[in-house]
Amino acid sequence: MSVQQDNKNLVTEDLNNNAAFVEKTAPILEQLKNGNTTDFNALNFNDILPLGGKEQTAKFLEQVFGTMLTHIEKSHDRKEKVLHFEQPEELEKRLDLDIHEGPTNLGTILNDCEMVCKHSVKTGHPRFFNQLSQGLDIVSLAGEWVTAVTNTNMFTYEVAPVYSCIERVLLNKMQSIIGWNTEDADGLFNPGGSISNMYAVMAARYRAFPEIKQKGLFNLPNLILYTSVHSHYSLEKAAAILGIGTDNVQLVGVDDRGRLDVNELEKKIIADRAKGNYPFFVALTAGSTVLGSFDPIDKVAEVCNKHKLWLHIDAAWGGGALLSKKRRNLFAGIEEADSVTWDPHKMMGSLLQCSVFLVKHNGLMEKCNSMKASYLFQQDKNYDIEWDTGDKTVQCGRHVDVLKVWLMWRAKGDLGFENQIEHLFSLADLLYKQCLSRPDFDVVLYDPQFVNICFWYVPKRLQQMDKNSIEYKQELNKIAPQVKSKMMDSGSMMVGYQPLDDKPNFFRAIISNAGSVPADIMFMLDEIERLGKDL
Ligand SMILES: Cc1ncc(COP(=O)(O)O)c(C=O)c1O
Repeated sequence: MSVQQDNKNLVTEDLNNNAAFVEKTAPILEQLKNGNTTDFNALNFNDILPLGGKEQTAKFLEQVFGTMLTHIEKSHDRKEKVLHFEQPEELEKRLDLDIHEGPTNLGTILNDCEMVCKHSVKTGHPRFFNQLSQGLDIVSLAGEWVTAVTNTNMFTYEVAPVYSCIERVLLNKMQSIIGWNTEDADGLFNPGGSISNMYAVMAARYRAFPEIKQKGLFNLPNLILYTSVHSHYSLEKAAAILGIGTDNVQLVGVDDRGRLDVNELEKKIIADRAKGNYPFFVALTAGSTVLGSFDPIDKVAEVCNKHKLWLHIDAAWGGGALLSKKRRNLFAGIEEADSVTWDPHKMMGSLLQCSVFLVKHNGLMEKCNSMKASYLFQQDKNYDIEWDTGDKTVQCGRHVDVLKVWLMWRAKGDLGFENQIEHLFSLADLLYKQCLSRPDFDVVLYDPQFVNICFWYVPKRLQQMDKNSIEYKQELNKIAPQVKSKMMDSGSMMVGYQPLDDKPNFFRAIISNAGSVPADIMFMLDEIERLGKDL
């Protein structure tokens, strides 16, 4: 089937698909319920493995599986609410969460599993548009389950042989997509884009001052880091954590599309040098958190080359778009970067957590972070110790994050992923056009580059006001939080809001759930109209 046909099928997906899913899973759930007459209230942890029997273990896990299958089913059912919001004090009071002195029976443990699912936000629901991480990819889920059951640690090949091989395959694939020679490059899987961004700052600082590892920061010049005012806060956090200090983060202005101003960047670098400071690092964003903007990588690469600065690209959010040939132009010049953050747990829809830090300088992370603990990273092992990746990281033990993304990528293939990404872009385009054409909506950013669609809902009573007046902005600022509060109470969907620069609170709809279809986009706007009409 061609890419276009695939795409069409995705876009025109039958909304009643869930009925078929329920029909197929109902007998399984029924069988799980009926075939299991065990009284779990009379059993406790001693009755299942590792101390108890295999049969009881299987029966217990079948029940857990049934609970999870029900959650999966509900997460894909448009008749189900996205959330049942309760205030934390009420929830805390109503739930039995205490750990007791004696054992809690397995019946209660099974109820606990159900309780957790029941009170969780259905982030896989096709009407969850709240965060960058959305959806519930079933193959990725299978990967997470297998990861859990093999419960190992990524630090050495010795205990994670197959995962170490898979990690290398995936890192090489991602490096090639960026346009690097895999022989020269390296990478790490991390628990989130913030940590990956921190690695970039560490790597750049170590390259400039390798003595920092032994001597610390004390004799270093004042290091300066550059990023845009719209970049993710994790870069300032990295500066705080690493002893650089947030005062030494130069926030560069952006143009009216939210893209870093290259001239201002260069002026700041020159001025800082003249003051005796030490500019060393520039972080650009490919897919900014709120507006979804892409900084001009090729132009900034020239500046970094000229002034000998490390160039990092935070593609935590936007990285998934590298999988679509059509969107490659957003990343023009990315191959010039020294490092890239790319989070499969965002646009690609891998289950949380899965972030990748990629670096063009092979061997640097090992030099920067290794402590060569002799109890773990023995130099005389019976295999090539290059395969032990743990000492490159700031952690000791590390979770296996690779299987859930590797499995889903294999299942979809490059073409399947390209379709998925294009499907998201087509939904975002529909949402943008709807916002333009509906009288009660106003867009924050014209012709958005990405799948963040930012808009105001403007109730009729505000529509006659002067848009530039303070009164209008003050009134408009109250609307999104009020609609959001009603939305949480109704539980019908979720979409986030925030102010930005001088712009009053606006909605930021994130389109990254492969299971959403055009009708969900229409529902979002209809629902906001319904909730906000009396405001
Ligand atoms: C552009 C960007 N970079 C980094 C991050 C941080 O990622 P994480 O939440 O995985 O730490 C985010 C999160 O929203 C982001 O939008």
